[in-house]
Amino acid sequence: MPAKVRKAVFPAAGLGTRFLPATKSLPKEMLPVVDKPIIQYGVEEALHSGIQNIIIVTGRGKSAIEDHFDVSFELEDLLEKRAKKDLLAIVRNISDMINVAYIRQKEALGLGHAVLRAMELVGQEPFAVVLADDVIDAETPCLRQLLDVYSFFSAPVLAVMEVPRENISAYGCIDAEPVTHNNTNDRVFRIRDLVEKPKASEAPSNLAIIGRYVITPDIFDSLQSINPGSGGEIQLTDALKHLLRSRPIYAYRFDGTRYDAGDKLGFLKATVELALQRPDLGGPFREYLKGLKL
Ligand code: UTP
Repeated sequence: MPAKVRKAVFPAAGLGTRFLPATKSLPKEMLPVVDKPIIQYGVEEALHSGIQNIIIVTGRGKSAIEDHFDVSFELEDLLEKRAKKDLLAIVRNISDMINVAYIRQKEALGLGHAVLRAMELVGQEPFAVVLADDVIDAETPCLRQLLDVYSFFSAPVLAVMEVPRENISAYGCIDAEPVTHNNTNDRVFRIRDLVEKPKASEAPSNLAIIGRYVITPDIFDSLQSINPGSGGEIQLTDALKHLLRSRPIYAYRFDGTRYDAGDKLGFLKATVELALQRPDLGGPFREYLKGLKL
């Protein structure tokens, strides 16, 4: 049996330039989709996947994230006095939800660098990485799907999805062969190679790496061995490519819909789709949308 995955690292120290000016002072992880900050969707996904220990890598101006997962005495006191039981439960739930630890990434030197900052807190055990700006709507949480594949193969697993060829240069991309698993051969892939942001004409496939990973602790040696790559940043994809020399790595084409909520159009799509699913909002919101002259 492979070691149990107990911890999830949330890199949240990026600058969020695609969402300026909103992200000048507000961390993009705190942008609300309907009424929840996007990072809370990721934290709930980790919880529903059986992971309770959350490590958030924060940067400058990210204290709103810490406040969000902390107890708010004044607010709870006020809601209690006003007998707003439902709201009180929502607010308490957030701080009761998780064991959370924070570590600082002083400079945004890349996703790989952010993950490396969590090395001491993770220790010598397998862990998940969740990029909160990928909001994933799935019946079985995406991370749970990856953990099942990890348990079967005892190896790192990355979530991938098919994207149109012309969009692949925005992602890390895999060169991989399908592996038969649970009687299908179009979900699990054994990775042969990884390329960060390839040109469409040079991409080895249309399978893009998205923001969910289950990784083994030997990734930290790889992260310490590599040089800055695409965009002058320490890339997690480059470290995984390095790790591939010493152990097999798998990819899983997860079942669900991923929204890039760090991008304006993706954020709008997530907002509309998730609002439509809400029992309290879906009906009136659908009626409103039907009335739009599109
Ligand atoms: P992005 O590629 O979305 O970059 O990072 P970004 O800086 O956050 O946003 P844009 O592109 O400028 O709009 C992917 C994830 O990696 C984290 C981000 O917070 C995000 O969750 N990250 C990125 C870090 O934690 N540190 C970094 O140095 C870079």
